Amino acid sequence: MAFTPLSFLLITLTPLFLFFSHQVSAQAPGPAAAGPLNFTAILEKGGQYTTLLRLLSDTQVANQIDNQLNTSSEGLTVFAPTDNAFNNLKAGTLNGLSREDQVNLILFHICPKYYTLSDLLTVPNPVRTQFSTDGLNFTGQGRQVNVTSGMVETQVNNALRMQSPLAVYQVDAVLLPPSLFGAKPPASAPPPAKSTPAAKDGNNTKTKASGPSSDDSTGDSSKTRVGLGLFVGIGIACMAALS
Ligand SMILES: *[C@@H]1O[C@H](CO)[C@@H](O)[C@H](O)[C@H]1NC(C)=O
Ligand SMILES: *[C@@H]1O[C@H](CO)[C@@H](O)[C@H](O)[C@H]1NC(C)=O
Ligand SMILES: *[C@@H]1O[C@H](CO)[C@@H](O)[C@H](O)[C@H]1NC(C)=O
Ligand SMILES: *[C@@H]1O[C@H](CO)[C@@H](O)[C@H](O)[C@H]1NC(C)=O
Ligand SMILES: *[C@@H]1O[C@H](CO)[C@@H](O)[C@H](O)[C@H]1NC(C)=O
Repeated sequence: MAFTPLSFLLITLTPLFLFFSHQVSAQAPGPAAAGPLNFTAILEKGGQYTTLLRLLSDTQVANQIDNQLNTSSEGLTVFAPTDNAFNNLKAGTLNGLSREDQVNLILFHICPKYYTLSDLLTVPNPVRTQFSTDGLNFTGQGRQVNVTSGMVETQVNNALRMQSPLAVYQVDAVLLPPSLFGAKPPASAPPPAKSTPAAKDGNNTKTKASGPSSDDSTGDSSKTRVGLGLFVGIGIACMAALS
């Protein structure tokens, strides 16, 4: 029996296809959901997340979330600050951040794993976020779950969605990561010191250290790239193993 190139290709690809289709069906159990999972649509339906939606779109983190939901088997948990939460920030807080740090601020609200509310009561602290530098701590009493960043503590309210692979919870405060907002000089301050817009506060004693170490967010984006590379690498390894 001669092995034509075509039959060889089929023999190689068929198990690969079965492997991946199995992975996909394992990720999406249960009855077919209505349409594909759409994170921004969940927030839009919530009706009080316009600031978050704008940030997600400006920083392109929304795309990153969609990609991750497609490729991650662990799922995601998002803590979504309401418009009120953003309004309660000190004036100029958001605009005072570089684009990189706006990305970091949002990534801090996302955990790379799906957690139900009761998972949050038992998960060991601190819990990893997509902003690798800082984690979140969860504490609870009865059925109430609190989340703290070390700088901000608030209750985890109202699940906008709690179904694997995505959980979205309302929070009424923006969770501020200590490495961006803490007393210590932020490690991620960009070297060319820009004039801070907080001057109008009159009392801006915060020192912007222009230290040589920086680049939290380039770390994050390169991590995304590493993740993608790993994914592609596994695919290649599978093909190599099967051929
Ligand atoms: C997700 O929902 C938003 C808002 O409803 C819509 O603009 C967008 O096209 C949707 N994306 C996908 C991939 O369906
Ligand atoms: C996610 O996967 C679905 C189906 O596999 C596809 O239609 C969609 O374009 C993907 N979205 C992203 C952001 O990759
Ligand atoms: C989070 O919990 C860990 C372990 O209990 C503790 O070491 C750490 O200080 C806590 N961090 C914050 C920000 O509460
Ligand atoms: C949760 O946080 C609120 C403040 O938002 C606080 O009043 C309450 O005591 C906290 N509860 C627990 C169990 O830590
Ligand atoms: C400025 O800071 C000093 C101490 O750092 C404080 O005593 C003073 O009340 C502050 N003034 C304003 C306007 O916040």
